[in-house]
Amino acid sequence: MRLRRFTFLIATLFVAALAILRAPTARADGPGTAPQPAQVENKVCLTCHANRELSMKLPSGETLGLYTDEAQFNASVHGKQGQRCTACHTNISGYPHPATTARDARDFSLQMYTICKQCHDKEYQQQLDSIHAKDIAAGNRNAAVCTDCHTAHAATPPDNPRSKIPQTCRKCHSAIFDQYKSSVHGAALLDQSNPDVPTCIDCHGVHNISDPTTNAFRLKSPEICSKCHTDKVRMKKYNISTNVLNTYVADFHGSTVELFEKQSPNAPTNKPVCYDCHGIHDIRSVKDPKSMVVKENLLKTCQQCHPDATADFPGSWMSHYDASPTKYPAVYYVNLFYTIFIPVVIGGMLGFVLLDATRRVLNRLQKSGSH
Ligand code: HEC
Ligand code: HEC
Ligand code: HEC
Ligand code: HEC
Ligand code: HEC
Ligand code: HEC
Ligand code: HEC
Ligand code: HEC
Ligand code: HEC
Repeated sequence: MRLRRFTFLIATLFVAALAILRAPTARADGPGTAPQPAQVENKVCLTCHANRELSMKLPSGETLGLYTDEAQFNASVHGKQGQRCTACHTNISGYPHPATTARDARDFSLQMYTICKQCHDKEYQQQLDSIHAKDIAAGNRNAAVCTDCHTAHAATPPDNPRSKIPQTCRKCHSAIFDQYKSSVHGAALLDQSNPDVPTCIDCHGVHNISDPTTNAFRLKSPEICSKCHTDKVRMKKYNISTNVLNTYVADFHGSTVELFEKQSPNAPTNKPVCYDCHGIHDIRSVKDPKSMVVKENLLKTCQQCHPDATADFPGSWMSHYDASPTKYPAVYYVNLFYTIFIPVVIGGMLGFVLLDATRRVLNRLQKSGSH
């Protein structure tokens, strides 16, 4: 058994060596120009790398599997384009390979992902500013790089189906995924493939994900929600009010947040933004008994910042409603009274003044005519 595997390996190495000898080799285009990568046929690489047993030991003691699944690669976006292994592995044109300097498996990935830059410079440049890249620079090697989200050899369109997006983040943010999954947004995406609700990246961005715990992110956050929640066409389908931003901004809470956002976008604010009342990854329908804004839970939600609030406290506030005969009738009728009363009074006064003036003018004309 052992012997058979050994002879197999020897045979593969021999065939591969022959193939490499016949493959075009790296050439220099002249003095001073960098050597172009050799366009080695994929089957050459695969003579060795289609072997499931092939692996190497890294200095850390970890074993790096070196098997490459040909069928999976051919089905990937890159394989479908007929891309060569050497389009990415530009430093390899035969065997032996240049020695890798990676200490362990994660180190290997962190070195290798820069390969993607050659053809996807836009995404690469964006990624450099992301919170993931900053975390890596700060020593957290587990933060995501290209190949964590897309894989190296099996990249497929990342947003098809759309539910693939949160599944990608789930690999490392599983606790947040679990909250999202049962939220009004996540449930609609995962159960019904609903295209109208946000995935992780509608709120966070993708290649340029920023730190969501900063003051700036907090102050700007009502805009994220409002993109969809003031979209009349989108919200009509769900019979959800698009008045939520207007009423929020008009309110004593939102007006300050809006003002800060314009004048000093990094200022801290103690006023609530949308997610203080509705939750973040666990936002629920206002009819869901677990929602932070249903009657039973609303007081607790206000008490986060108004610790002394008592049961009737939320009632003192108009929420997202404009006053109407059914909601806040007292406010509504007082408003209505003034909308009618003031024009009538002022109009009446104006009318009176005008009539009086005309009378006086007429009187004067009559007097001067009789002279
Ligand atoms: C003759 C067999 C053989 C052939 C052909 C071969 N490899 Fe390898 N490859 C190996 C072995 C063995 C290793 C383990 C490390 C070493 O020995 O350098 C390896 C390691 C690797 C590694 C990981 C370590 C490193 O150096 O980056 C990559 C990537 C790789 N091969 C890609 C390729 C590509 C691409 C081709 C085709 C151009 C290819 N290999 C052709 C045998 C082969
Ligand atoms: C789109 C670019 C790209 C193409 C095309 C590509 N590779 Fe890779 N390959 C990478 C990257 C990036 C890594 C590092 C993966 C990691 O983080 O472990 C890698 C890693 C490897 C490794 C090391 C083991 C591993 O999977 O991590 C081998 C062996 C390898 N590639 C062989 C091949 C072969 C054979 C082909 C052609 C059939 C090929 N590659 C095509 C980008 C590519
Ligand atoms: C040699 C050039 C080249 C390299 C290197 C390369 N790609 Fe690509 N990639 C392409 C081309 C060409 C396409 C298909 C056209 C397109 O959609 O942009 C593509 C498509 C993609 C897509 C799908 C885009 C979509 O909208 O469906 C992803 C994801 C992707 N590449 C990721 C990577 C990652 C990750 C790496 C590094 C491991 C990488 N690519 C390295 C050329 C390359
Ligand atoms: C945290 C996960 C993650 C990381 C890291 C990541 N991507 Fe993406 N990428 C995605 C998602 C999700 C999409 C789908 C975006 C959409 O639907 O708008 C995407 C889209 C793409 C596309 C399609 C075109 C586009 O820009 O929408 C390419 C190409 C791509 N990524 C390449 C890369 C490269 C290269 C890197 C590394 C520099 C990288 N990605 C890093 C998750 C990631
Ligand atoms: C390979 C693992 C991995 C993947 C995949 C990944 N992340 Fe991360 N992410 C991390 C790590 C590690 C951190 C560092 C902070 C931490 O541990 O939460 C981080 C940090 C973040 C932060 C900042 C957290 C903070 O407290 O500042 C956000 C936001 C984030 N990721 C969003 C995403 C999104 C959205 C996706 C999917 C498109 C994604 N991540 C995919 C590993 C990953
Ligand atoms: C509706 C918008 C929205 C969606 C959808 C969303 N997030 Fe967030 N996320 C936020 C906001 C707002 C914060 C900032 C909360 C704070 O101040 O702590 C945040 C914080 C985070 C953080 C850092 C804080 C923490 O709790 O660790 C990570 C990581 C994160 N989100 C990942 C994800 C992932 C992964 C998904 C998808 C499964 C996702 N988010 C979906 C809005 C969203
Ligand atoms: C990409 C668009 C989009 C974004 C961004 C978005 N939402 Fe939504 N939201 C929706 C849609 C669509 C629904 C209806 C889903 C359903 O009922 O199936 C919804 C439902 C809701 C509901 C439940 C309403 C009800 O029926 O009672 C609340 C509350 C909510 N969103 C709050 C927020 C908050 C807060 C934010 C920002 C942190 C936000 N949303 C960001 C699209 C969005
Ligand atoms: C101070 C707490 C608070 C803040 C801040 C807040 N909301 Fe609300 N929101 C509520 C309450 C309470 C309700 C339930 C109203 C009811 O039906 O009685 C609600 C209801 C909603 C609904 C459901 C409307 C419907 O037609 O069913 C949506 C959507 C919503 N809010 C989005 C937002 C958005 C977007 C923001 C930020 C711009 C925001 N909310 C800010 C407390 C808040
Ligand atoms: C994230 C913190 C936060 C949350 C949550 C919050 N508020 Fe406030 N609220 C404030 C701050 C800060 C002020 C301004 C206090 C001041 O200027 O003295 C304020 C002011 C008010 C005022 C004006 C009168 C006063 O006491 O100054 C009312 C009424 C009010 N909030 C009602 C509510 C209700 C009802 C809820 C729950 C639905 C709620 N708030 C949730 C932070 C919050």
